[in-house]
Amino acid sequence: MKAIVQREYGSPDGLRLEEVDRPDAAQGHVLVRVRAASVNAADWHVMRGDPKLARLQLGVRRPKAPIRGRDFAGVVVEVGAGVTHVGPGDEVFGDTGTTDGAFAEYVSVPGGRVALKPAGLTFEQAAAVPLAGCTALLGLRDVARVQAGQRLLVNGASGGVGTFAVQIGKTLGAHVTAVCSTRNVELARSLGADDVIDYTTEDVATAGQRFDVVLDLVGNRSLRELRRLLTGRGTLVLSGGGVFDGGSLVGPMGLIIGGGLVGRVLRQRIQPLVADTTTERLTALAALIEARQVRPVIDRTYALAEVPTAIRYLETEHARAKVVVTVP
Ligand SMILES: NC(=O)c1ccc[n+]([C@@H]2O[C@H](COP(=O)([O-])OP(=O)(O)OC[C@H]3O[C@@H](n4cnc5c(N)ncnc54)[C@H](OP(=O)(O)O)[C@@H]3O)[C@@H](O)[C@H]2O)c1
Repeated sequence: MKAIVQREYGSPDGLRLEEVDRPDAAQGHVLVRVRAASVNAADWHVMRGDPKLARLQLGVRRPKAPIRGRDFAGVVVEVGAGVTHVGPGDEVFGDTGTTDGAFAEYVSVPGGRVALKPAGLTFEQAAAVPLAGCTALLGLRDVARVQAGQRLLVNGASGGVGTFAVQIGKTLGAHVTAVCSTRNVELARSLGADDVIDYTTEDVATAGQRFDVVLDLVGNRSLRELRRLLTGRGTLVLSGGGVFDGGSLVGPMGLIIGGGLVGRVLRQRIQPLVADTTTERLTALAALIEARQVRPVIDRTYALAEVPTAIRYLETEHARAKVVVTVP
């Protein structure tokens, strides 16, 4: 099968479209014929091996998993022993996690990271959902436990995770304030944001507002600044942030690790976010999508051979929501 393969850490120039062996549906796994995939910040982090500290998990000298990509939508070819919630012929979507990736014609994924594709979505739209949607759902529903009537701030509201977070915040009954740049103000409003702060003309840190929950997806603020945005018993959820700027040792993990330590001794809750795509979260998102309460937003679509360009776009520019890859 064809796949986007990477032998060494580095720039998108090191990614190659190669012929590799097709994976099997091992025990507990689902073999999927991929029809579309999407690009996440996680893809450039793994491609670059950045921050370097993450290489302890990803592979010290080179990526342990050579095929890039995580999010996919496609058709089940075969299921391994123990998988009962999907079967051959089903249209599904999911996230491979840190194992071999979705920029390929076939992918073998643990069953617990796959669910039935939302009815009415194309493969391209469905592939835009898993990692970003599940991260937003995890952060707001499960970690921050957002309640109706609470005030929620989403910093980075126009990105992959942010566009889902604004919509999920509204489904949980929150008053949502979105922070994004000028060109994305209308997008944030169309997703349901009650207030939008254009960070190019207004600084949320000096606007004098306090929030019950702050979801930070940018990492451009100090812990002190972020805490000042919170009410006395508010919750700060730290997801990461940043673009590739030549390499770092800890990168966004510095803020996350620091927040996790400080959060132990405060009345305010500071919660690091660790992405966890599960069948339950995917199914919950599918229900919200089918009820027309949440929709994926797609910025650009690329062909499988153009994955290097797609990742370069995501890591160097300000992508709007999701970047999708079609797999013939
Ligand atoms: N912890 C985890 O497990 C986990 C899981 C998923 C994602 N993440 C991390 O979360 C971050 C967000 O992910 P993503 O997929 O949403 O990334 P993304 O799609 O690349 O979104 C980045 C967004 O940030 C916005 N932005 C840039 N500078 C900003 C600023 N100063 N203020 C407000 N917004 C700004 C950009 O909007 P404009 O164009 O409007 O500037 C862009 O839309 C990434 O760093 C990713 O690595 C972590």
